[in-house]
Amino acid sequence: LSTPIETRAGAYRAVLRRIDALLEDESDWIAAMATVACELHNAFDHFDWTGFYRSEGADGLVIGPYQGGHGCLRIRRGHGVCGTAAAESRTVVVPDVWEFPGHIACSASTRSEIVVPIFGRAGRVMAVLDVDSDQLDAFRAEDVQGLEELCRDLGRRFG
Ligand code: SME
Repeated sequence: LSTPIETRAGAYRAVLRRIDALLEDESDWIAAMATVACELHNAFDHFDWTGFYRSEGADGLVIGPYQGGHGCLRIRRGHGVCGTAAAESRTVVVPDVWEFPGHIACSASTRSEIVVPIFGRAGRVMAVLDVDSDQLDAFRAEDVQGLEELCRDLGRRFG
């Protein structure tokens, strides 16, 4: 079951506060990504896969810390939802992955997805946060807002 819409914004406030406290004295980017993946994944019932892809070189993404079943190890920039978000430097919400041309199906149970870029220095996409749901059309404005706020903080602190 999804976290009800009326409590979702509150759930984001709580999980972002928790992440902030956990990362307060941490400067290691991998430790931060692992902690964020764990906290987010366990906070929301509609999150079925939660994790990071890191930019590597000019046109590649390599998997980072995640929770859920195994993900594709590498994604080319411009490919799939993650590669599109990285190439276009924008959040991509896909309500129905079956309708997204070029979607990379790492898990057959994925039905909707959100990918948020994390900008490091000079506006470079240093990583993307990818959340997959096994529910159709699972992501709402609250998810976009909460995850974008989180990714802005991560970029500022670890970029
Ligand atoms: N569905 C993603 C691929 C990554 S995983 O499923 C974990 C995409 O199209 O970018």
